[in-house]
Amino acid sequence: MSLPPTGHVEGAAAPAVPGYAIGVEPRCYALVPCAGSGQRAGPGGPKQYRHVAGQPVVAHTLAALAAVPRLAATLVVLSPDDGQFEQALPGLDGNRLWTARCGGATRAASVCAGLDELIARGAQPHDWVLVHDAARCLITPALIDRLIDACWKDEIGGLLALPLADTLKDATPDGRVAATLDRSGKWAAQTPQMFRLGLLRPALAHAGEGVTDEASAIESLGHAPLLVRGALDNFKLTWPEDFALAERLLQVPGR
Ligand code: CTP
Ligand code: MG
Repeated sequence: MSLPPTGHVEGAAAPAVPGYAIGVEPRCYALVPCAGSGQRAGPGGPKQYRHVAGQPVVAHTLAALAAVPRLAATLVVLSPDDGQFEQALPGLDGNRLWTARCGGATRAASVCAGLDELIARGAQPHDWVLVHDAARCLITPALIDRLIDACWKDEIGGLLALPLADTLKDATPDGRVAATLDRSGKWAAQTPQMFRLGLLRPALAHAGEGVTDEASAIESLGHAPLLVRGALDNFKLTWPEDFALAERLLQVPGR
């Protein structure tokens, strides 16, 4: 993550997507950034380890990923000083679940370090990586499969997202409405976000540490990721009140 952001030149043609060997079946990996400190969620420690519906948040997330057979393995990126993961999730299958204490100061740095770890473990440029927030614990196997089905043959890859339903306001610093923005054509980005390793790694190096999702990095190279309809349930636990909502939703039978 040392390269400065240079930005894509408006009007310039998008650079070619790297070509991949024909006939080589790509593998799919999941990469779960789990190294944040959860500042907005208030007291209670890093939000990925807080309990909802009887389990740590990240345990629900990993259970959904583990139920998708097409994922060859899931790599969880932990903070270098994480002392909670193994205690919070004892007895996990190490065959398809890997951990690396290589988290960075920002989400983008954590994802970049995780991609390097996947490369060290043998992942190839043509392999797909599904990056999914540990804190988005209401993800379901069906939604993950929907994203893989939609992106598998795509040249760029894509992300789960939802068209904006609410009217969008620009705010002043003192909490008043500065303007009403046109919501048509606006989508809220979710995760997983699915891109080829050989495109995502250089895109993140190009975009710098400021990006908050993988699609922005891909866009910075001039590519247009595919928008795949996600679900309202697949929200990211961010604010203190989100935990009670997640608890209620996780307890719905048959979800
Ligand atoms: N994340 C990470 N490394 C960081 C920051 C975030 O791996 N340096 C992870 C979080 O653990 C989370 C996901 O990225 O699963 C989404 O980030 P966010 O919701 O912003 O989590 P936090 O950064 O922990 O929360 P906050 O921004 O409120 O401090
Ligand atoms: Mg954050």
